[in-house]
Amino acid sequence: MSGLDAVIHDAAEIAAVRSNDGSGGELETIESGAVAVGDGEIEAVGETDSVVAEYPPENADTVIDASGKTVVPGFVDPHTHAVFAGDRSDEFEAKLRGKSYQEILAEGGGILRTVRATRNADDETLLENLLNHLDVMLGHGSTTVEVKSGYGLDTETELRMLDVIERADERHPIDIVATYMGAHAVPEEVSAEEYVEEVIDEQLPAVESQGIAAFCDVFCEEGVFDVEQSRRVLEAGIDHGLAPKVHAEEFVRLGGAGLAADLGATSADHLLHATTEDVRALNDAGTVPVLLPGTAFGLGAEYADAQGMLEADAPVALATDFNPNCYAHSMGHAMTLGCVGMRMTPGDALVGATHNAARAIDRPKGGLLEAGAPADLCVLDAPSFVHVPYNFGVNRVETVLKDGEVVHAR
Ligand code: NIG
Ligand code: FE
Repeated sequence: MSGLDAVIHDAAEIAAVRSNDGSGGELETIESGAVAVGDGEIEAVGETDSVVAEYPPENADTVIDASGKTVVPGFVDPHTHAVFAGDRSDEFEAKLRGKSYQEILAEGGGILRTVRATRNADDETLLENLLNHLDVMLGHGSTTVEVKSGYGLDTETELRMLDVIERADERHPIDIVATYMGAHAVPEEVSAEEYVEEVIDEQLPAVESQGIAAFCDVFCEEGVFDVEQSRRVLEAGIDHGLAPKVHAEEFVRLGGAGLAADLGATSADHLLHATTEDVRALNDAGTVPVLLPGTAFGLGAEYADAQGMLEADAPVALATDFNPNCYAHSMGHAMTLGCVGMRMTPGDALVGATHNAARAIDRPKGGLLEAGAPADLCVLDAPSFVHVPYNFGVNRVETVLKDGEVVHAR
């Protein structure tokens, strides 16, 4: 054994999320458990007596006595729009008074307002904002976060956003996965058709040469990009080396889920109006359904049918969808809404917020708590992982380790 980074011992519970090579993660809980970490990876998980016999805590750089506490994998947030300027707290009240998300967007508010603010902000402001949001996310236990561009809607600002995402990734303990989402809305100055041409002819080649984004996402929605336009954007993205993701069936059932399945997209997200047939198609294609209950909660909309998806053995993932419309940084809160709003079991919510979420960003070794996985871990000040969704409104994350190092403690 070289370099023992950490031993966490005597935990009341270890929520061991394991991969099961196909339909998503599985959860096993271990009482009185321990985790040994070496060279940034989990070396052993099991009962404290057997783990400490092989990995004596006195040889470790970090020793955590987790008596009365729980160890879970670091949360993976596979869908955020976390780089932007300003906020939209005033629209929060307008929405409460009955204005719809689409009405606000059609009047040049919503995404388009954040686009104006983001275009006018300098890189340092965007970076500082993103780092602040990442700090809050880390404090709530997220160790890997996907961040999308999409508040530029022009080549220059989209590239600036991706550059800011890369700089934040270099500076912050959270591991960031970048998604290019030039097709997030139709900018005010042009038609959807003209803009799709710009995305394909100008933005995508520039995004490929920049080399930061791993995915290409599109808002396939009534009044935004139709299925045919979304297909052209995503197919061009594939030609430029970007794996597809789709914002699908959020406000109406338009066919985004079928498109995602057709293209073998890595994930299809939102899915509030997806049908059983859509879920089957996504499953057959190996596309991960990413559910964003915070968005439904914030808009007062019906939740996605998580239960139907779980019954169909889909690897349901959860995400915050953090953005100025859904100002929610916490995966624990997404788990609460997954349970209370969508009737997921706490175990399904945990797997959805960890390993299934990692699969939604093509990190097959992410979000696991088993030997050989990266040592991204949270110690909770609670006797069971169930307290994360159960104790809503309270953050039980006490210590966060990223690649075996303590990166947050309170
Ligand atoms: O996933 N629905 C489209 N995009 C974001 C919202 C972005 C915004 O309103 O600023 C979402 O919810
Ligand atoms: Fe989104």
